[in-house]
Amino acid sequence: MTSSKIIGTGSYLPEKVLTNSDLEGLVDTSNDWIVSRTGIEQRRIAENESTSEMGTKAAQCALEKAGLSIDDIDFIFVATCTPDYQALSTACIIQNALGAPHVPALDIQATCSGYLYGIFLANSLVKSGTFNNILVIASEKLSSITNYQDRSTCILFGDGAAACVVSSANQAGLKIRNLLLGANGKFATSGFVPAGGCKTPASIDTVNKGLHYIQMTGNEIFKLAVRKMEESCKKSLEACGLQVSDVNWLVPHQANLRIIEALAKRFGFPQDKLCITIRKYGNTSAASIGIALDELMRNKNIQPSQNLLLTSVGFGLTWASGVLTYQNPL
Ligand code: UT7
Repeated sequence: MTSSKIIGTGSYLPEKVLTNSDLEGLVDTSNDWIVSRTGIEQRRIAENESTSEMGTKAAQCALEKAGLSIDDIDFIFVATCTPDYQALSTACIIQNALGAPHVPALDIQATCSGYLYGIFLANSLVKSGTFNNILVIASEKLSSITNYQDRSTCILFGDGAAACVVSSANQAGLKIRNLLLGANGKFATSGFVPAGGCKTPASIDTVNKGLHYIQMTGNEIFKLAVRKMEESCKKSLEACGLQVSDVNWLVPHQANLRIIEALAKRFGFPQDKLCITIRKYGNTSAASIGIALDELMRNKNIQPSQNLLLTSVGFGLTWASGVLTYQNPL
């Protein structure tokens, strides 16, 4: 089996900032409520940029960090639940924008767990020797499916993108020790966009009813998120033979600060081991773990043998957890 590592990460956040006080002018809410119930202070909004444009920028950062050019890439995965178009893979649009004709390109729709699903697939393809370098991108323009008249959802979501290169190259990087994936469609309607798919095609009626926006049962997803993240983190650590005390950094999906803190409490992780970006960016779905991971790699001095525990839960329900260990070249 070939060894597989993440050898470069990147991210991209659009410039426009939407603050809690901006939202106070749109819906019946308050900065105090939003901060105390979610931890979010602001989020970024892509005004004139699409999911593919943000994803392309994040991918270029990851390639530069990895010291590779697009010509070195064998496959492109794009995790998103906000594709540029229906019936057209956003991965193909990014492939063209990056200048990678003939490289296979595939969208992954696993909501907030999409980035880890993508890394799982890339890791398997690299380890099996099928490909050497795979670009995994997560990009979301959640503002395009957010109802800014619904206070229970519009406070949560933001736009952004992240990317990484999963590679067989013998260079410093994050070895993918394991990734465990899960899903349970029983909870499908806990969070979703009701219209625009084949079950309920878009119509004047669906638009008038706001069915093209995210709807969710927030507190149900909240409880499921804490439970599933805890379960899958435990399984992931066990599979690697690691204890909670071996984890140097927890990199969780950023859905709600209270979810992250509840998880940290259950494991006894101190605050300084938590990677938290939700205050600045809100919930960017598939991109959130990737953005947090990129910030960690850029801002902290990650040392060889340090372990990162990644975990996510998203609509579907989908979940994923895994351990990455920083390694120097052999
Ligand atoms: O990424 C995918 C996974 N997504 C998630 O994990 C989302 C998880 N869920 C959550 O983050 C939380 O459930 C929310 C932040 C969405 C809601 O927080 P909550 O503590 O579960 O509040 P709630 O829905 O139980 O509502 C409590 C009260 C309600 O008022 P009443 O019925 O008690 O009078 C709501 O109407 O808070 C009210 N409320 C608000 N008040 C001010 C709901 N949204 C707001 C708001 N501002 N924005």
